[in-house]
Amino acid sequence: MFKINPYRPGAGVMPTYLAGRESDIYTVDQMFKALTLNIPTQSVIFSGLRGVGKTVLINRLQKIAENRGIFCKHIEVETRNDFISQIASCSQAFLREVSAKEKFKSLIKKSLDAIKSLVISFDPNGSSFSLSVQDRELYQSNNLTQSLTDVFTSIGETAYESETPICFFIDEIQYMKTEELGSLIAALHRSNQLGYPLMIIGAGLPKIYKMLSDEKTYSERLFVYQEIGSLNSEQSKKAIEEPVKKFGVTYTEEAVNRIIVLTKGYPFFIQQLCQIVYKEASGDEITVEDVDLSLGDFFDSLDNGFFRVRYERCADSDKKFIFAMVQCGELPCTISNIAKNLNKSVTAISTTRAQLISKGIIYPIRYKELDFTVPEFSGFIKRLDEYAEWCREMQDMPAR
Ligand SMILES: Nc1ncnc2c1ncn2[C@@H]1O[C@H](COP(=O)(O)OP(=O)(O)OP(=O)(O)O)[C@@H](O)[C@H]1O
Ligand SMILES: [Mg+2]
Repeated sequence: MFKINPYRPGAGVMPTYLAGRESDIYTVDQMFKALTLNIPTQSVIFSGLRGVGKTVLINRLQKIAENRGIFCKHIEVETRNDFISQIASCSQAFLREVSAKEKFKSLIKKSLDAIKSLVISFDPNGSSFSLSVQDRELYQSNNLTQSLTDVFTSIGETAYESETPICFFIDEIQYMKTEELGSLIAALHRSNQLGYPLMIIGAGLPKIYKMLSDEKTYSERLFVYQEIGSLNSEQSKKAIEEPVKKFGVTYTEEAVNRIIVLTKGYPFFIQQLCQIVYKEASGDEITVEDVDLSLGDFFDSLDNGFFRVRYERCADSDKKFIFAMVQCGELPCTISNIAKNLNKSVTAISTTRAQLISKGIIYPIRYKELDFTVPEFSGFIKRLDEYAEWCREMQDMPAR
């Protein structure tokens, strides 16, 4: 028999009940309010591990901003997708939105020129503007920061004059190229200085805080940084119970507690486990026995999905680095301990370290320490036969 299942594990999939983000939503909504009053505000960056709910949070915020009449666009940065062409097309879309109003025609012309110059100069595959060679030279620029700043200040001015504030939602910021990130910060900074109602809500892995401050020191004043973590007990309880309330289904206290312990309050894990438990349970009251019966399927689904997709992205040398991290026992761990477990020097493993950071599998914490961006990743690695094999091999190797 078909049973409606209200739990929704999946990247960027909006849960039927968004638990525990009320205060973040409230704070950002106040900023949106300021923006609609033509008051420039700081931008916001949410950082957190994989599966904690960054994407769904910024998607929810986008809905709220749209309801306030703010012009919104979502950008997902991907290594293979050009950021400049995305920001240019979002800016163009904004101009289309306000172009219906006759009195803004000259401002729109100015903004369009700025976008044209940006695309022609920095978007190699962009074919949205066909220009003669002469015109091409006229619009050509070799300074990305200046070009992007021209775009932001001109659309910012248009936003101010037309009283249509702008908010760009940028997900997976950690994949932005350094030069693009620096230019984005500078452009935002300038438009903010000029008092234009344009803001950014960004999301990414924990390393983005360092990426932004490394790029420009003033970025600390430009952005509000907010770390998104796992849900506390009370919030987890709501994430577990609320979705099935409308079906008249409840959980025993013991069942809720077991789920919280097993998932450690990580939103993705809660959705995944509850989806299985609910699918298998037959009564109107879910018990701890129902939870325990679902454990095998729960770990199988995580191992074959959430964890495996990240693991499969790794080269052999990456995997060994990961094994050595797990062998450290406690995380975060130092690079020198990883090197010791690999029987190598720190310098010899620094390329692999950089590669794993850029793939978004690990991130640096404090000085010389590293951790996984995927919660509970060590547990998954320990369940792998390859890990056990590697440990045996290393044991037989003479120490350096
Ligand atoms: N506050 C929440 N309450 C309940 N469920 C949530 C909450 N936040 C996220 N989820 C669920 O967790 C899962 C992961 O959410 P999301 O994709 O937004 O995470 P993320 O932080 O963007 O992960 P990634 O870094 O992999 O992109 C989804 O299934 C979503 O429905
Ligand atoms: Mg996401």
